Amino acid sequence: MKVIQVGIGGMGNAWLRAVQASPTVTYAGFVEVNPTIAADQAAKYGLDRSLIFPTLTDALAAVEADGVINVTPPQFHREVSLQALEAGIPVLSEKPLADTMAAAQDIVDAANRTGVLHMVAQNYRYSPPIQTLRRVLASEEFGTVGSVTVEFFRGPHFGGFREEMPYPLIIDMSIHHFDLMRFLLGRDPVSVYGRSWNPPWSWFKGDASAAVLLEFSGGITVSYDGSWCSLGRETPWNAHWRFECSRGVVSLVGDEVITQYTDREPVTVETVSLPRTGQAYLLDEFYQAVMHGVAPATTCQDNIKSLGIVFDVVQSFATGAVVGATA
Ligand SMILES: NC(=O)c1ccc[n+]([C@@H]2O[C@H](COP(=O)([O-])OP(=O)(O)OC[C@H]3O[C@@H](n4cnc5c(N)ncnc54)[C@H](O)[C@@H]3O)[C@@H](O)[C@H]2O)c1
Repeated sequence: MKVIQVGIGGMGNAWLRAVQASPTVTYAGFVEVNPTIAADQAAKYGLDRSLIFPTLTDALAAVEADGVINVTPPQFHREVSLQALEAGIPVLSEKPLADTMAAAQDIVDAANRTGVLHMVAQNYRYSPPIQTLRRVLASEEFGTVGSVTVEFFRGPHFGGFREEMPYPLIIDMSIHHFDLMRFLLGRDPVSVYGRSWNPPWSWFKGDASAAVLLEFSGGITVSYDGSWCSLGRETPWNAHWRFECSRGVVSLVGDEVITQYTDREPVTVETVSLPRTGQAYLLDEFYQAVMHGVAPATTCQDNIKSLGIVFDVVQSFATGAVVGATA
């Protein structure tokens, strides 16, 4: 299978490594708008400079591809994804699906109309700690989940678009945690309510901290507290999770799953080992879908429900109201 990667700087590095290591996927070409990044990455990864094009239009005119990997910043996701879908080429897009719900809906409509696959890279689903947590919850050994608490505290200095955008924590980061809530609970939210703020020492223009209450179907309440401006005691990127269950507690702390049945000692669960994680898992899932028709999990039609949580939360921040699920 041959792919065109659009955007080869930044997160594009992770995809360059994943494709170069793949036994099944190779490059038809690349698209990069920044000539310096194009030159630097060609040297670093040994890429054929003649296959790096300034636009997707140029790339599609010059090479044959079975798929497009879209690693551009969020404001370009709609344009790149629509162009590929209209050309009949399946898309594996970085999260978020798009930068607005209207743009996301345009992508879903185009995928439905053309019948061409569009899937979103929710790589947090495919890490050993999260897969271990999911297996324990899915086994129902601890009974039913009553409520969930999620804590995410880090202090990254990214520079670039994240330090300029509104609600950087919620829009750029929490999409992963909201998608994980849907993945781990196997349920969708019915309403959200939240408040955001920016700590006085924040290096982000938009609010970098937030508290959100989400009600999922079945009456499960999830309490989410997060910050990208925390100055110590960082949590892992996966966050800390605590599931209050009918037979005890299931938690993820420091990327280890620790469980405790009522009246017993806590137990650390052995972390599963996976043949592929993160981008390698997603690339293989994309390959299996395109070449062998195996349905992937995070299609745009499903993923718009995770993105919907993000924009419902933002609406709650702006209005101070409880917002019913819209996606
Ligand atoms: N899944 C994850 O864990 C994860 C982590 C980081 C970033 N991301 C996502 O990856 C995407 C890219 O983020 P980033 O941090 O790499 O951004 P970035 O700005 O660092 O890099 C984007 C790259 O795309 C290029 N580019 C921009 N517009 C383009 C266009 N129209 N056509 C071709 N190339 C273009 C830029 O020149 C740059 O090389 C975002 O959607 C971001 O949310 C995901």
